[in-house]
Amino acid sequence: MDLCVIEGDGIGHEVVPAAVRVLKVVAPDVIIRKADAGWDTFLNVGNPLPYDTLHLAMECSAVLFGAAASPSYPVDGYYVPVVRLRRELKTYAMLRPTRYLPVPTARPGVDLLVVRESTEDLYIGHEHTEDDGRMGISEKVITREATENVAHKAFQLAIKNGRQKVTIVHKASVLLQTDGLFRRVALEVAQNYPEIKVEELLVDTAAYWMVKDPTRFDIILTPNLYGDILSDMAAAWGGGLGLAPSLSVGEGVALAEPVHGCAPDIAGKGVANPTASIMAIAMLLRHHWDRQEAANRVESAIRGALESGYHTADIHPDGAMSTDDFTEQVCKGL
Ligand code: NAI
Ligand code: MG
Repeated sequence: MDLCVIEGDGIGHEVVPAAVRVLKVVAPDVIIRKADAGWDTFLNVGNPLPYDTLHLAMECSAVLFGAAASPSYPVDGYYVPVVRLRRELKTYAMLRPTRYLPVPTARPGVDLLVVRESTEDLYIGHEHTEDDGRMGISEKVITREATENVAHKAFQLAIKNGRQKVTIVHKASVLLQTDGLFRRVALEVAQNYPEIKVEELLVDTAAYWMVKDPTRFDIILTPNLYGDILSDMAAAWGGGLGLAPSLSVGEGVALAEPVHGCAPDIAGKGVANPTASIMAIAMLLRHHWDRQEAANRVESAIRGALESGYHTADIHPDGAMSTDDFTEQVCKGL
């Protein structure tokens, strides 16, 4: 079993090695194969996702990706590497769970899963300007195929994990041809799973409920952009971005990532919370490699460390540990 490990930029260099350290304890047989991507890679070789990296990712059973720094203005030749990677790997379903962890920043009772389509929507990167740069145009693409795939995945997960309800989140009231298609296809797919309750919400209303009462959600099924935003909102209820993992699955290679970015404000200080990346490894073990015992060990070691009061500065500044010291405690608990 091969895992392609891409640290990326910023705290990717801190949290990814922590997650690999944990993986090596619970699954020492997994072969680690390192590759580069991100902004620094772009500066070095002119491509944020070099061919060798993509090729290696496609050859491995799974990828662990940290985070990449992306400028908020166009740079010739740059594109967001992980968005391209998800598309190339055809990982159409991104699973982003938020479940209560024993930290003061988390809200008890929250247990929801955002299932986000992750290969299309506004994220395909088809953008251009017209009228001498005075008009920016972006294409939003929703296909029946990707929607069917991600919807089936959401309902199958509901059944497998004993969940009761899928909430389809869209803005079909305005975006009739794109979100409208997503909504129609998702509702069609839902008919194959009569045991699961289905509801739909417009994305703005879903955002309202995510703030007001996140316990009303079970599984949220939604296109790429809304899933990105709602899963960060949900992460706040799970205790913060430092704790939120994600796993993308599709036609073969799985992609484990933390939900957060490269956190330039704390990068290089050795204080980042590695929990999100470690929990992403647990998701990989559970959902992709079907190694339930190893996944349980990782999750309970994280829970145990947090219950004992070990934490990084994002949880609470008092008594905060470094990334390495916290990881050490997790490893002791394995
Ligand atoms: P961010 O997630 O990097 O940071 C948001 C806030 O959360 C910051 O205050 C940061 O210090 C904190 N934070 C995030 N992860 C943490 C951790 N593990 N431990 C402790 N604190 C943590 O989002 P932001 O600031 O909007 O973006 C920064 C850069 O990251 C941008 O260049 C953006 O493009 C990139 N980014 C990359 C992603 C990816 O490659 N998957 C995802 C999101 C953002
Ligand atoms: Mg995001």
